Amino acid sequence: MALLYYSLFGFFHFALLSSLCFAADPTISYEFKLSYITVSPLGTPQQVIAVNGNFPGPVINATTNYNVIINVRNQLDEDLLMTWPGIQMRRNSWQDGLRGTNCPIPPKRNFTYNFQVKDQIGSFFYYPSLNLQRASGGFGPFIVNNRPIISIPFPQPDGDIVVLIGDWYIQNHTALRTALDSGKELGMPDGVLINGKGPYKYNSSVPDGIDYETIKVDPGKTYRFRVHNVGTSTSLNFRIQGHNLLLVETEGYYTSQQNYTSFDVHVGQSCSFLVTMDQNATSDYYIVASARFVNETVWQRVTGVAILHYSNSKGPVSGPLPEPPSDVYNQWSAMNQPRSIRQNSSASGARPNPQGSFHYGSINVTDTYVLRSLPPTTIDGKQRATLNGISFLKPDLPFRLADLHKVKGTYKLDFPSEPLNRTPKIDRSLINATYKGFIELILQNNDTKMQSFHVDGYSFFVVGMDWGTWTENDRGSYNKWDAISRSTVEVYPGGWTAVYLSLDNVGVWNLRVENLDRWYLGQETYMRIINPEENGETEMGPPDNVLYCGQLASLSKDTGSSAISIRTAYNLFVTLLMTLSVAVFIIS
Ligand SMILES: *[C@@H]1O[C@H](CO)[C@@H](O)[C@H](O)[C@H]1NC(C)=O
Ligand SMILES: *[C@@H]1O[C@H](CO)[C@@H](O)[C@H](O)[C@H]1NC(C)=O
Ligand SMILES: *[C@@H]1O[C@H](CO)[C@@H](O)[C@H](O)[C@H]1NC(C)=O
Ligand SMILES: *[C@@H]1O[C@H](CO)[C@@H](O)[C@H](O)[C@H]1NC(C)=O
Ligand SMILES: *[C@@H]1O[C@H](CO)[C@@H](O)[C@H](O)[C@H]1NC(C)=O
Ligand SMILES: *[C@@H]1O[C@H](CO)[C@@H](O)[C@H](O)[C@H]1NC(C)=O
Ligand SMILES: *[C@@H]1O[C@H](CO)[C@@H](O)[C@H](O)[C@H]1NC(C)=O
Ligand SMILES: *[C@@H]1O[C@H](CO)[C@@H](O)[C@H](O)[C@H]1NC(C)=O
Ligand SMILES: *[C@@H]1O[C@H](CO)[C@@H](O)[C@H](O)[C@H]1NC(C)=O
Ligand SMILES: *[C@@H]1O[C@H](CO)[C@@H](O)[C@H](O)[C@H]1NC(C)=O
Ligand SMILES: *[C@@H]1O[C@H](CO)[C@@H](O)[C@H](O)[C@H]1NC(C)=O
Repeated sequence: MALLYYSLFGFFHFALLSSLCFAADPTISYEFKLSYITVSPLGTPQQVIAVNGNFPGPVINATTNYNVIINVRNQLDEDLLMTWPGIQMRRNSWQDGLRGTNCPIPPKRNFTYNFQVKDQIGSFFYYPSLNLQRASGGFGPFIVNNRPIISIPFPQPDGDIVVLIGDWYIQNHTALRTALDSGKELGMPDGVLINGKGPYKYNSSVPDGIDYETIKVDPGKTYRFRVHNVGTSTSLNFRIQGHNLLLVETEGYYTSQQNYTSFDVHVGQSCSFLVTMDQNATSDYYIVASARFVNETVWQRVTGVAILHYSNSKGPVSGPLPEPPSDVYNQWSAMNQPRSIRQNSSASGARPNPQGSFHYGSINVTDTYVLRSLPPTTIDGKQRATLNGISFLKPDLPFRLADLHKVKGTYKLDFPSEPLNRTPKIDRSLINATYKGFIELILQNNDTKMQSFHVDGYSFFVVGMDWGTWTENDRGSYNKWDAISRSTVEVYPGGWTAVYLSLDNVGVWNLRVENLDRWYLGQETYMRIINPEENGETEMGPPDNVLYCGQLASLSKDTGSSAISIRTAYNLFVTLLMTLSVAVFIIS
């Protein structure tokens, strides 16, 4: 009998331990209600997408390895999905919030996202991913702090300041969609918002009565400014009058620290700067985000202006804004800035080992993909935009859900690995990428506008960037030592950017243009990355609350159903065992 008790106890002990291990990483939970509110950031009332009544939305404040639970309630009048770009969702594309990974959340319904920010640090932002909704808001910051035991490569800043910058239209996303569908371009935005607010009245060109952002600081202190371009399609030059911007991070990796007087932040990108309040506060200072790589004489209204206010400031600021970079007519030199961004290879990232310990430069490339984007064109009577001649057709059914339920014919795995000079078409072609491959991705921008490209589920090494058409000879110019790792990179019009990507994360992962108009018109695809020896351990299964749609719509159950899920039953079982084991312990 004693032996039996003992072995049972051993089993209980094991059950307890494994549940403790699971619980070891803290969980943070959020309730996100997405609804319309009316605000007038540029002086004209308009409906914007708010999160819990706020525009922009609240910060998600996590730490490396935290489990994050976000219950998203859709109070809009159309389908919704929230996405968390830069968060790598290890083995778990089920939580990525894109049309190819999730069924949309219908109006009046909710979906609870549940994922871990595994081995990550850095500054990101979230937003609604469908149908240009980001042009109406719904975005907010997502911070992943380092664990206290992991050092950061600079002294602890005196404060964290989030700055969301983005171009802005008075027309809402549905009106912008109508414009694109009818074959128009979006045209010049109506302004730039900083943290959801319009420009400070720096001169008579700004209308009266606009609410502007004021950032309050103390003299002598150093703050970490986390700057994100959450806009629709405009690259912005960010600068703070009289202050240096010390670049320390881009999308989750520490850079080799360098001062800039102004910095280009492209659509979808995030950067952290350390800014020291070392000026004399004879007045406040301007914070500016102005349109870049457009005719700046014509685009003057596309300028965001906020105020940096020292606690000992002697009064408001006046006079001209700090000058934008003077290379507008010599944009060749503008590329020197992104090329100067290097990774600090000796700094620790999310783990104590140095960021540079993965020697990407000595790994053999297994596949090369050249993706060429062209300006919009007419396909089947519609305005569309293409990558390698393919304009992506929005999925009806998430790809892995289709795989799981053996729904055939919903997509093809034939995305071409180079631009073929064939007639452009609308299609649902995915990249059949090889698990554990190490790929070279060349982004060739043959459009006339600056673009930024993003890959979900991964970060990549930005090894090269240049003008003209990429050729194999360009490989000689690659940075094989300290290229920055990030997840969103700019591609100059008439130029190319080369990145290396280590395909160690299974799932289906979106590869897209972040410029909302081009994305809407079809410049995206997905990489399907499956472990051929899949044994149920590499990729996570769908969550209990997975939503169904398309051909599988009949599988959906009402939300709030009282059926006990397998996971809940398992948890109850473990709790019961633990209670029993305590009882056995007390009895013995
Ligand atoms: C968007 O704007 C159009 C008019 O331009 C209006 O009819 C529609 O109601 C607006 N939609 C929302 C959600 O605000
Ligand atoms: C985030 O949480 C950390 C503690 O984990 C706290 O120090 C920090 O102030 C928080 N930041 C924000 C923006 O809420
Ligand atoms: C909707 O929210 C409720 C809690 O309010 C939750 O029990 C339910 O699982 C959620 N539905 C989905 C699909 O996540
Ligand atoms: C307002 O400021 C902009 C940029 O500093 C300048 O180009 C423009 O001429 C000014 N407009 C007026 C009316 O002063
Ligand atoms: C950056 O500029 C600040 C002054 O604003 C200076 O104190 C610091 O040494 C500079 N750092 C580097 C790496 O150039
Ligand atoms: C404060 O700094 C500004 C700009 O550097 C300078 O023009 C001004 O003379 C300074 N004022 C004082 C009181 O030092
Ligand atoms: C910018 O636009 C103005 C006004 O249309 C025009 O005169 C100027 O030539 C343009 N500049 C460039 C570089 O295209
Ligand atoms: C790189 O990181 C180390 C911390 O490991 C730090 O001491 C150093 O200042 C950083 N160097 C640069 C150039 O950012
Ligand atoms: C890379 O390929 C070369 C031949 O092309 C081979 O000699 C070398 O061993 C390979 N390196 C690795 C790390 O596989
Ligand atoms: C995808 O690639 C794998 C090898 O990596 C190959 O076995 C498979 O046949 C390919 N699938 C298609 C549909 O081309
Ligand atoms: C597009 O590509 C063609 C040839 O491939 C080249 O002649 C043209 O200059 C390119 N245009 C842009 C904007 O990149």
